[in-house]
Amino acid sequence: MKQGISIAIDGPAGSGKSTIAKLIAVKFGYLYIDTGAMYRAITLKALQQGVSPQDEKSLAELAMGTKIVLRDEKQDKELKLRVFLDEVEVTHQIRSLEVTNNASAVAAVAAVRTNLVKMQRQMAAAGGVVMDGRDIGTVVLPHAELKLFLTASIGERSRRRFLELEAKGVSVTLAELEEQIRHRDFLDSNRQVDPLCQATDAIFLDTTSLTIDQVVEKIIELSLEKGAALDVCN
Ligand code: C5P
Repeated sequence: MKQGISIAIDGPAGSGKSTIAKLIAVKFGYLYIDTGAMYRAITLKALQQGVSPQDEKSLAELAMGTKIVLRDEKQDKELKLRVFLDEVEVTHQIRSLEVTNNASAVAAVAAVRTNLVKMQRQMAAAGGVVMDGRDIGTVVLPHAELKLFLTASIGERSRRRFLELEAKGVSVTLAELEEQIRHRDFLDSNRQVDPLCQATDAIFLDTTSLTIDQVVEKIIELSLEKGAALDVCN
């Protein structure tokens, strides 16, 4: 029996998907699945093994023999995601600049996607999930009860990412970040296989001038309409 509804959140880089998805998952006591973390983990493995992001055949083999585990951990009502690649924790490594800059090329390989999409569907099979990525509403969970397409202006997305990195002590300029995000959006939206696009039945949410709380409130309202039940403990 399904344990709750499936909520699919898609959108471009830096649109706030993961921040919002985690908060929603806590509110409903749902599983949070960050599919971007899975593409990042495969990218990290390719880089570690010296496999070029352009070498499709080797990437396909690599994806077949890889185990990725996502573990949600709740700390003071906040959800923290831990990522394991072949049993080794890579939670922080997958956020490096090198991984970020190579993930779109790895994610464009059809066989890599087939593999990860299969894993993602298995992870979501029981329902009660919030899954974020680029192709969730269109490909991974086409029957999700609620689909959202989150975006914000390029300036605002770059600003948010800048503040996030600044808080972590990473030195990068706003202009550099904007260029990286533009490039990643271009690759993700123009690839042959499962490009980033809004599902026809997804609700479009421009968060440029909204606070995180406003976005979360809106999504809670939409989820309740679709039959989700709030977790009484949160
Ligand atoms: O979401 P995040 O920015 O961490 O994703 C990293 C990369 O993984 C994206 O730039 C995109 O190329 C890829 N990705 C994807 N499909 C998804 C999730 C992420 O292609 N469902």
